[in-house]
Amino acid sequence: MRILIVGDMVGSPGRAAFARVVGQMRQKGEVDFVVANAENAAGGRGITGPLAREILDAGADVITLGDHAWDQKDLVTFIEKEPRVLRPANSAPGCPGRGWISVDTPGGRVTVLSVVGRVFMAPHFDCPFRTVDQVLKPDAGLGKVIIVDIHAEATSEKIALGRHLDGRVSAVVGTHTHVQTSDETILPKGTAYLTDLGMTGPHDGVLGRELAPVLKRFITGLPSPFDVATGDVRLEGLLVTVDAETGRAQKVKRVRERVEK
Ligand SMILES: [Fe+2]
Ligand SMILES: [Fe+2]
Repeated sequence: MRILIVGDMVGSPGRAAFARVVGQMRQKGEVDFVVANAENAAGGRGITGPLAREILDAGADVITLGDHAWDQKDLVTFIEKEPRVLRPANSAPGCPGRGWISVDTPGGRVTVLSVVGRVFMAPHFDCPFRTVDQVLKPDAGLGKVIIVDIHAEATSEKIALGRHLDGRVSAVVGTHTHVQTSDETILPKGTAYLTDLGMTGPHDGVLGRELAPVLKRFITGLPSPFDVATGDVRLEGLLVTVDAETGRAQKVKRVRERVEK
């Protein structure tokens, strides 16, 4: 089973790149299942219900989010109606929605689990390590193929979670930094790993935003709106080939597709 996992999708350039690249891959039969992080899909801030529908229609099987999950307030009600959109599983008790889902596909069951890190992140998230242990109980019926999105700032925390889950899940991939790392690997017990998938969106500014207002904020501290950048649009992520019988990763291929205008 070939599973494409896509890094943080930013604004309309990111959504267009996702639709184009994933549409082509689906058409050519190059991918069986697609997970997309879309926490910045709505102009860089969160995601709305209609945009989630658009991304699912464009080829995502499951959408993961992160610390920007609630930036658009309509998601609070929408997420209760759409289980394919995940908020972090270690969100505080009382948050709507779910942090994992099992999807039955022609190739077998695929479970996607989303957690947020705690190093340099908001303090209201519970421990991601204890959360994954609670969710991944052997009798939970999640199937063999399990993908974990660790949405976190610190590389150490992501690597530690990858090692913690080695042999228990098919892939652990990082999101949130918007900068793709080059450490894709299959860990000793068969789990695919990449510290950060990168960003699906415009790369000519700063993490998907236009350069000038970000620079102004750094230099002067004065507020200015951060619009989504426009140039050097790419889809970034990881393509993992998984043995559906065992859940073990067989192959990892880092993806960086430039999308011409
Ligand atoms: Fe992000
Ligand atoms: Fe984030």
